[in-house]
Amino acid sequence: MYTSKQIIDTFLNFFKANGHTQIKNSSIVPENDPTLLFINAGMAPIKKCFTGEEQPISKRMCNVQTCIRTNDIESVGDRHHLTSFNMLGSWSIGDYFKEDAIKYAFTLLTEGFKIPKERLYATVFSGDETLGLPADEESIGYWEKVGIDPTHIIKLPFEDNFWRMGDGEGPCGPCTEVFYDTGDSHGESYEKSGNFDTKKRYLEIWNAGVFMEYYQNLDKTYSKLKFKSVDTGSGLERLLLTLNGLESVYDTEIFVDIMNYLRENCKNPNERSLRIICEHIRTSVIILNAKVEPSNVKAGYILRRLMRRALRHLRTIEADDTMFEVIAEKTIDNMNATGLAPDWNFTKSELIEKFKAEQDKFAKMLSQGLKVFKEYIENKENIIDGYLKEELVFKLYDTFGFPFEITQELAEEQGVKVSEQKFEALLEHHKEESRGANTAVFKSGLADHDPNTIKLHTATHLLHSALKRVLGYDVHQMGSNITPERLRFDFNFPRKMTDEEIKAVEDDVNSVIAKGVDVIREEMTPEQAKNSGAIGLFDNKYGDTVSVYTIGNFSKEICSGPHVHNTSELGHFKIKKEESSSAGIRRIKAVLTD
Ligand code: SER
Repeated sequence: MYTSKQIIDTFLNFFKANGHTQIKNSSIVPENDPTLLFINAGMAPIKKCFTGEEQPISKRMCNVQTCIRTNDIESVGDRHHLTSFNMLGSWSIGDYFKEDAIKYAFTLLTEGFKIPKERLYATVFSGDETLGLPADEESIGYWEKVGIDPTHIIKLPFEDNFWRMGDGEGPCGPCTEVFYDTGDSHGESYEKSGNFDTKKRYLEIWNAGVFMEYYQNLDKTYSKLKFKSVDTGSGLERLLLTLNGLESVYDTEIFVDIMNYLRENCKNPNERSLRIICEHIRTSVIILNAKVEPSNVKAGYILRRLMRRALRHLRTIEADDTMFEVIAEKTIDNMNATGLAPDWNFTKSELIEKFKAEQDKFAKMLSQGLKVFKEYIENKENIIDGYLKEELVFKLYDTFGFPFEITQELAEEQGVKVSEQKFEALLEHHKEESRGANTAVFKSGLADHDPNTIKLHTATHLLHSALKRVLGYDVHQMGSNITPERLRFDFNFPRKMTDEEIKAVEDDVNSVIAKGVDVIREEMTPEQAKNSGAIGLFDNKYGDTVSVYTIGNFSKEICSGPHVHNTSELGHFKIKKEESSSAGIRRIKAVLTD
């Protein structure tokens, strides 16, 4: 049996041996990326490296990144879909391209993981004339060259094999994915059926290369990027399932004991509900640990939806409500035992308390809401053309805390439909009304305008972006104080920095100083600033315009200044002290010398 640890070690060691630097994984809550609620791929925290807006710490990188993908929530319960998973990622930023990426993927799978090549299938992009995107013939050639049977190479269209981060703008490109044949017991072979089934028999185990060479513009046109890169990602949980020849991810070490325990401790153990409960509780542990609280908006709403869906299925299997916290505790223990725990921001009992609190709220909400729901549904006037009136669906959500999906599921049980589109429209209207006109301005926090203070202010921007490059892109400013003598900078990070990390940050800042880069100030709307990728406190409301300071590719921040004109004015940057400021917050004191 492969363990998670063995798979991770084999993956990282392979890429490190091929010149890749392991980078930190980031918090699942993205930093300053309004386009994403959660990190959904290993490349998300470093996406600006693909466009050249940010400098990578190395041209070849790899890591293990926890990802959340709630668009798969309805598929949870099948063999392999999860709302949270560990992505094994590797990247080439402007370095090697298709041929080496395919060679690495093939070598690791067949030599590192010893998968017989007969079990592997590769999909490639078939091209899209209307979008002006050619077919990826080169990748076909490279797969054949490493030894994949040409009948195992399948061309698929845009929806399957052109990877982008979503519908918004961003780097993108054709991709080539590797599928593992799980055998005859899981359906007809591809040759026989002529249809490549990616759901049951053939499971995707690796997106072996998104060949990032395009940028998706907001109007859905595609421009060429300045340089070509590779972004790969493989789900650890799927590798555990396939390499160990198991039936589903619930039979792997991540879930199997917890599933068995739950099965034995309920009266009506239907498999789908057991899976949904264990899966959703695991994702909830991860999201809660990232300091998201259950709520009715954004990330908090996703969390609440997962927790309440798990609670509802606990009722379906006729388990005691307290099983919610028992399973949460077992999940945390399992994460520690398998080496898949995040950096804990809370103790186990603090996390369990959060589960209990949501369980209490859910119980109250259910008993109140169910009465109201029954009244609504029993009154025929409330049902129009088979649909429950949308105002009532919204009221259940707004006043009684019923997630939309619960109303939907309950209504379906009664043979009544609910319109998601109409509910969404009411929700949007409600949000607009409650948006305040609060206009706090982002202050630079400079206490004086002494020339040294101004230099240290520019150095603070460089320090902020260097910390992201060295420690991970979720590191961000928690406080700053500058005097003519020194800068003081607080940031989120769970442990003491090593001497090597401190040196790497100093070197990073000093290299930008040595390059003599101009510091450019521009005025723009907060929206433009956000879209340009500037760092800022977007939770705050800014005025109509903000000023953005850009230092080459190294830093871009909303700030009211002032700053030096060129980094060559700064001298030499030195970190004097790195210490704890409070729980989870580190503090750096640094100076500039001649
Ligand atoms: N970003 C790509 C994906 O998510 C490769 O990891 O599939």
